[in-house]
Amino acid sequence: MKKSLILLSIISLFVVSSPDRAVSEARKLIMLPKPAMTGGMPLMTALAKRQSSRSFSEKPLPDQVLSNLLWAADGVNRPDSGKRTAPSAMNKQEIDIYVALAEGLYRYDAAKHALELVLDRDIRAQTGQQDFVAGAALNLVYVADLSAAAGSDREEKVMYAAADTGFIGQNVYLFCASEGLATVIRGYIDRKALGKAMKLKSGQMIILAQTVGYPGK
Ligand SMILES: Cc1cc2nc3c(=O)[nH]c(=O)nc-3n(C[C@H](O)[C@H](O)[C@H](O)COP(=O)(O)O)c2cc1C
Repeated sequence: MKKSLILLSIISLFVVSSPDRAVSEARKLIMLPKPAMTGGMPLMTALAKRQSSRSFSEKPLPDQVLSNLLWAADGVNRPDSGKRTAPSAMNKQEIDIYVALAEGLYRYDAAKHALELVLDRDIRAQTGQQDFVAGAALNLVYVADLSAAAGSDREEKVMYAAADTGFIGQNVYLFCASEGLATVIRGYIDRKALGKAMKLKSGQMIILAQTVGYPGK
């Protein structure tokens, strides 16, 4: 009797302490819910509130907020032409948004409005050289496909890619201001190490990263 009780306690201890697999396992494809294309705060109020923050809570973003965030960042706003919420030089749309979540690294597919799994591990800490990046809900990494960018030489391609990234980043800033989320765009990145961790191909260039999450205390 005593023996079976001890066994039962040991088993329940394992069950209680085992991580929630449904939460920790990376989903292969996240079909994001339809983004809310109306609402938010008035534009002038969002502009008045736009700011960089460097204190984040670890609370994850619900899929609906993630959906709205990515659509605001660079989603398709004119399905007939496939054009986006952010402009790009010659409409080359060469910037990919990678999303580093606790459950894994994803690439945003704007046409499908979905997140495709790239790596099933947490690389948030490698997306920047500042402590807050590791624990924030997510880090966006803006990666240019230079082979697709506008421009007649590498210098011009990089210039356009950087400009195009700036528009996406500002969309994210305004969305965050409107939603009461914290964000900061970042250039302080070990690009070589991050590119390796992300398994980027030659021709792909990390331009900037942007941390997003609920504000920390
Ligand atoms: C291209 C670029 C790179 C930046 N890199 C970093 C960074 O690596 N780390 C950081 O904490 N802030 C970074 N920032 C944020 C700036 O420090 C911030 O925008 C500036 O101090 C003004 O503050 P504000 O955004 O609240 O107006 C960057 C901003 C830009 C535009």
